[in-house]
Amino acid sequence: MKIFITGGAGYIGTHICVELLQTGYDIVVYDNLSNGSTEAIHQLKTITGKTAVLIIGDIRDEARMSEAMRGCDAVIHLAGLKAVGESVEKPLDYYDNNVHGTLCLLRAMQANNIKTLVFSSSATVYGDPVKLPFSESHPLQPTNPYGKTKLVIEDILRDLYHSDSKWKIVILRYFNPVGAHPSGLIGEDPLGIPNNLMPFIAQVAAGKHKFLNVYGDDYPTPDGTGVRDYIHIVDLAQGHVKALEALSVPQCTPINLGTGQGYSVLDLVKAFSNASGKEIPYEIVPRRAGDIAEFYADPSLAQKILKWSASKTLDDMCRDTWNFQSKIKCVPKSVGK
Ligand code: NAD
Ligand code: UFG
Repeated sequence: MKIFITGGAGYIGTHICVELLQTGYDIVVYDNLSNGSTEAIHQLKTITGKTAVLIIGDIRDEARMSEAMRGCDAVIHLAGLKAVGESVEKPLDYYDNNVHGTLCLLRAMQANNIKTLVFSSSATVYGDPVKLPFSESHPLQPTNPYGKTKLVIEDILRDLYHSDSKWKIVILRYFNPVGAHPSGLIGEDPLGIPNNLMPFIAQVAAGKHKFLNVYGDDYPTPDGTGVRDYIHIVDLAQGHVKALEALSVPQCTPINLGTGQGYSVLDLVKAFSNASGKEIPYEIVPRRAGDIAEFYADPSLAQKILKWSASKTLDDMCRDTWNFQSKIKCVPKSVGK
């Protein structure tokens, strides 16, 4: 089978490419490189011995995308903007890239008679927890424009399936993907100051920042700091291969990809310090606006439908992040992103 991967040159996409190539799929990556890297695509050959076709293009360029996906059997749709804070500042960019871009993709798929889709959604669609762990039936009440774009897209996919029951759609709701490929050749190297915890901690360990700001230690959690469900990027990527395999019958199914285990900010600091042998100085600062105290997945549906569960530990996540971070210190920055 040949898989068309929008956003395949980004952090999550490149790791999915590795797993697909290693499983024997052919792949076409379609990415506008706004936050992706051609070098990371080249690293796929080093890791897997196989190559991915890269077509540079925007998902809002429907004609180009339609041409690019000709002959493919299924689509994994990752392309989009993903920064919560930026989405509050620039909501129109987010609705345009994420929602308009997805409409173009779905029309291009229809034109090519491709009706098999795995979509990257996010746990952010749940909003403030009414009940934990988050199961797929939890109310959907995102609290920021980024999350709202994901919910709008999910709703479009549900409506599309109801209009034409030939579609085979899995909506994957990711929890907190972290880590890097164990080779250290691909990973997450955000431009500028990282928004997310794990890349920031990695940069503190690498000496790029003096200390970590811990956003609040007065949450109702065991140590007062925020708790999240961190999932190793390789586990997450393997979940996509399982999702493709599960799409033998028409459906539109949302599925959580998480471990079911929550860890606090201070748990991560401690684990990363152990994995890297570096001290991670931190300071407690006020809460970050919009943050939720605690959330983690109910991963049982993924186990049931995809026959998948996460297998890597927090120590694996920290070790592989540090391995990647250590390599980008001494090779050109472009190797990561
Ligand atoms: P990323 O920014 O590394 O990858 C996204 C890729 O999409 C980039 O390579 C970028 O160049 C490309 N892209 C963006 N807009 C495009 C457009 N209009 N046309 C073509 N290509 C475009 O982000 P990521 O972390 O790999 O996330 C991938 C997907 O997973 C996104 O949809 C994101 O919302 C979702 N997601 C990510 C997280 C996370 O924590 N990383 C969590 C939940 C969901
Ligand atoms: N945190 C700090 N200091 C930092 C960064 C984060 O203390 O410098 C804390 C946060 O307050 C939170 C935890 O670390 O308690 C995790 O924060 P992240 O920013 O790493 O992750 P979030 O859960 O806030 O959000 C991420 C993505 C969202 C996505 C969500 C679920 O940014 O887009 O995971 O997938 F929706």
